[in-house]
Amino acid sequence: MAGLAVNIDHVATLRESREFVSYPEPVAAAVLAELAGADGIVVHLREDRRHIQERDVRALRQIVQTKLILEMASTSEMIGIALDIKPDVVTLVPENREELTTEGGLDLMLHKETVADTISTLQGSGIPVSIFIDPNPDQIKIAHQINASMVEIHTGTYCDASTAKLKDHILSKISQAAKYAYKLKLGVNAGHGLCYQTINTFKGLSEISEFSIGHSIVSRAVLVGMERAVKEMFALVKSL
Ligand code: PXP
Repeated sequence: MAGLAVNIDHVATLRESREFVSYPEPVAAAVLAELAGADGIVVHLREDRRHIQERDVRALRQIVQTKLILEMASTSEMIGIALDIKPDVVTLVPENREELTTEGGLDLMLHKETVADTISTLQGSGIPVSIFIDPNPDQIKIAHQINASMVEIHTGTYCDASTAKLKDHILSKISQAAKYAYKLKLGVNAGHGLCYQTINTFKGLSEISEFSIGHSIVSRAVLVGMERAVKEMFALVKSL
């Protein structure tokens, strides 16, 4: 049965959209998400601090009861923060200041050496590392070579695809990538862009052990409340 890791970045996005307010509180969202069954809490501490702040990660480290997953770029600043706060898992992602959200997987062909050094430093300190990558066997092979514990397969291009034909094509790449990573004994997660409709497509893809979902849950929570939004997604993920 797959797990659900709830990304609460956009609770902080709402807070940061107004200067001088301290609500909504991401820690409160994390507590409600866990009460509703979340298997983990995810935050992305970006270089530009556009949503989650370092203070949030520190507070979450104290409060989160399941596991705290920190998404971050492979930079010396972020490595220092991760070594200090010690999240349960780090997910390495590419970061581009101009992007609205993470746009694609980390390109391990380009960044193999840097990412390998980051993995060695973090895992040497007992923090398992996952790498967010596109569903491409060459990327998975490198993730395995450089000793990553897990990969998170990028599902955003599938969710955003405009035609059924393109969706089928990308889904088959995700499926092949998940099976290949599983065969190499990498932990296999998936995420980005998933919502209450697209999640059902992953039924039967048992190699995927955890889905990381944020924007659709926080958006639904605005209307129905965080606990109900997480419970509804939790039920969908557990029925895959
Ligand atoms: N996984 C990764 C690596 C991400 O960067 C994000 C977005 O922060 C997510 C999953 C969650 O994506 P969404 O908010 O679209 O569900």
